[in-house]
Amino acid sequence: MKMAETGYYETGAALAQYLMFHYGDPEETSPHAPPPPDSLDFPARCAAVCVEATATGHRRRALDLGCAVGRATFELTRACDEVVGVDFSTMFIGACGALKRDGRLPYRYPVEGDISASAIARVPKDVRREATRFERGNACDLPADIGSFGIVLMANLIDRLPDPGACICRLPALVASGGTLVVTTPCTWTRSFTPREKWLGGRLVDGSPQQTSEALRIALEPAFALVSKRDMPFLIREHARKFQWSIALATVWRRRE
Ligand SMILES: C[S@@+](CC[C@H](N)C(=O)[O-])C[C@H]1O[C@@H](n2cnc3c(N)ncnc32)[C@H](O)[C@@H]1O
Repeated sequence: MKMAETGYYETGAALAQYLMFHYGDPEETSPHAPPPPDSLDFPARCAAVCVEATATGHRRRALDLGCAVGRATFELTRACDEVVGVDFSTMFIGACGALKRDGRLPYRYPVEGDISASAIARVPKDVRREATRFERGNACDLPADIGSFGIVLMANLIDRLPDPGACICRLPALVASGGTLVVTTPCTWTRSFTPREKWLGGRLVDGSPQQTSEALRIALEPAFALVSKRDMPFLIREHARKFQWSIALATVWRRRE
């Protein structure tokens, strides 16, 4: 994988942005105006969607693929015995390790220009940090011995991969029979991450527009049945007065028996 594709997630700017996104409180995230409705705590909401969709018997092992700085991984321990977080970014996986060990991670985040402020990312006290395992890995080339999971979460990952199809191909083996797959994506397809011919949606196919929901349906059936589809807003702070407000498409799938 080329550095240009993944380089952003190895920067201090990305680390601060994602620590704020996963652990920031409303006042830190949006100091000058209330955030748009239902746009905070996206990773915790993703974890809740996974758990709600999954029968108790399938909640033993969960995988958070593209876990970034780990909030959804930690949240999944509320319901699962063991949760594995995998991300390609060495810097993010390092932060996950520190958060697991200490439950907190001090960092600085941008206010404007050269001015920054300090904050502490804190893992909620009532999750089981010891039930997590964080590993650096490539979602397009996962180790053969990773096993299967009753829950697989892929939050805002597919449109950041060089080959999303290669990742999707592994899913039938990765999700246990009767288990749950949750895929969220803001459908931000761009050639800086994914060559156009590998986009799962957002392009013309045989001259007709194919959106991500349709491309996902084609890619995931027949191994998975669609359970539900919803919009999930999220807000990522760039600096005190600039934000990315996105509305992810979230689909929930059941691995056919
Ligand atoms: C848009 S962020 C989403 C992170 C997180 N799931 C969330 O919802 O906040 C995409 C994440 O995918 C990771 N990533 C990019 N390419 C990857 C790959 N090939 N394998 C695993 N993770 C990857 C990035 O490091 C980053 O953490």
